[in-house]
Amino acid sequence: MKYGGGAYLAVCTLFAYYYHMTQRVSHSLEETAQIAHEWLEAVSKAPATGATVVGLSGHLGAGKTAFTKCIAQELGITEDVTSPTFVIMKIYPVDLSKGFPWKKLVHIDAYRLEQGRELAAIDFEKYAADACNLILIEWPENVKEMVEGIEAYKEIKFSVGEKDTERVVGF
Ligand SMILES: Nc1ncnc2c1ncn2[C@@H]1O[C@H](COP(=O)(O)OP(=O)(O)O)[C@@H](O)[C@H]1O
Ligand SMILES: [Mg+2]
Repeated sequence: MKYGGGAYLAVCTLFAYYYHMTQRVSHSLEETAQIAHEWLEAVSKAPATGATVVGLSGHLGAGKTAFTKCIAQELGITEDVTSPTFVIMKIYPVDLSKGFPWKKLVHIDAYRLEQGRELAAIDFEKYAADACNLILIEWPENVKEMVEGIEAYKEIKFSVGEKDTERVVGF
């Protein structure tokens, strides 16, 4: 790599500052869980007319699925959350006693998709219209024609930090 990890992190931090993004560095899965907790608290207070649709972008191993697992835990989902790379979409019922505004967590992995319209085959638009859904999409760049049209679409950017156990989360 041409630049060291420190320089890369500095560039990312400047970028985040410029675009009013929050950038957090996690040094462990526990810290990632804490970041997921805080993000969820904030986003659950933002009213949405349809589903809350969030793209998780970043390279393989950057922590998109790990973050999704943390979100699932916060939502009281006890089922094991694994990457839906082959089935594309998995839906988990949220524990309503946790007090979040959603009834379902919809986890989509668009890694194997090439165009947004391929999401039509899994009824994406129906799920996206329903305010009871929190939809997390890995590899959103593969389906950007579909997600960009969503009014309150958000993105979280993941990258590997300087150490093996370091992950940078930007939102
Ligand atoms: N601080 C950290 N936060 C999240 N994951 C971490 C962290 N440190 C190491 N990891 C590991 O990084 C890997 C991330 O993999 P995964 O979430 O499947 O990536 P992706 O879905 O982006 O391809 C996991 O094996 C996880 O245990
Ligand atoms: Mg993944």
